[in-house]
Amino acid sequence: MLRWAARPGLAAIVLAALTLAPLLTAAPTTAEESEPSAAQLMDDLMWDRGPIGGPFTLTDHTGKQRSDSEFRGKLMVVYFGYTSCPDVCPTDLLSISQAIDALGPAGDGVQPIFISVDPERDTLPRLADYVAAFHPRLIGLTGTPAEIKKVALAYKAYYAKGGAGEGKDYVIDHTGVVYLIGRGGEYLGFVPPQTGPQRLEEILRQQLTYDGRR
Ligand code: NI
Repeated sequence: MLRWAARPGLAAIVLAALTLAPLLTAAPTTAEESEPSAAQLMDDLMWDRGPIGGPFTLTDHTGKQRSDSEFRGKLMVVYFGYTSCPDVCPTDLLSISQAIDALGPAGDGVQPIFISVDPERDTLPRLADYVAAFHPRLIGLTGTPAEIKKVALAYKAYYAKGGAGEGKDYVIDHTGVVYLIGRGGEYLGFVPPQTGPQRLEEILRQQLTYDGRR
């Protein structure tokens, strides 16, 4: 009897601790409060706990407003990153660009998109220089921190300032997968980071020749 009586007591304490925990941490903003962890976003992405992707409107590297809806009929390749990224972003963007070129004329059916998770430093001129260095049709997108956060969360993409850099000298930890969005705007899946250009070309070609039947 004593054992059973102790259980609700313990449960109540645990519950109280869980309920109080958010109150004890530094008061977060509303956006931060509802933000899922890196692990949760990765799990959702890996196990396809949708929806993933969806509509967006952001500013491109020329200052023009761009929406996902204008790329219907094309295979969208979406990558989140930032121009100061030391290694992962450049490698993946190079693979994407090489894969599209290797497709030849069929490559016109692919729209590569780079979404900056570093709006603070990635100014339009900087973004313009960066995307041009990879592919003439690569579109760089940016926006307000809130706009970018919204799109990233829709894609289950994580990013956060990290490392020991000071001032403007910081790194950003971010999800580095290559997202594939179908010609009807539907989420197809993701390709792991550091996938080579040949494999990426193969995947893109399969999707471009896909006839609508799974
Ligand atoms: Ni990166």
